[in-house]
Amino acid sequence: MRRISEEVFHYAGFSREWTERLKLVVDELFMNANQYGSKTDDDKIYILFTFDNNEVSFRIEDEGRGQRKMNAADLKKLIYKNFDKVSDLTKTSGRGLALITHLWTDDMKIEDSKRGGIVVTFTKKITVET
Ligand SMILES: Nc1ncnc2c1ncn2[C@@H]1O[C@H](COP(=O)(O)OP(=O)(O)OP(=O)(O)O)[C@@H](O)[C@H]1O
Ligand SMILES: [Mg+2]
Repeated sequence: MRRISEEVFHYAGFSREWTERLKLVVDELFMNANQYGSKTDDDKIYILFTFDNNEVSFRIEDEGRGQRKMNAADLKKLIYKNFDKVSDLTKTSGRGLALITHLWTDDMKIEDSKRGGIVVTFTKKITVET
């Protein structure tokens, strides 16, 4: 999975630096889907990516079988709250999504999945800076 996303970002034309960052974004979303949206490692996590000359998009979807089930609206609220605390360096967790959303993607959408869990879609434009 890590290799695939690396290949995609690299092939799409991102710099080494941005490829590393975006790989971390996919990683973070995958870990969350696995940790919070799944019960066992046998639960499925669906990953879909698309890209063209202008932008790359990744979509990570889980089945919502985790212990602390959350819907998209609540998750969005939580992230919004966490974002205020991002600057608090003493806090070591709970800023994954908040940071990612605001710093490293152009757009991130959190929705309820038809499969019962959460589906997160992010896009990043390919520009001279990236
Ligand atoms: N796919 C998901 N399904 C259900 N809940 C989720 C999902 N992704 C995130 N969450 C909830 O949102 C919270 C915040 O996620 P976030 O990734 O920002 O922090 P974290 O995973 O707790 O810590 P870390 O900084 O290590 O990533 C999680 O603790 C979890 O409760
Ligand atoms: Mg996390």
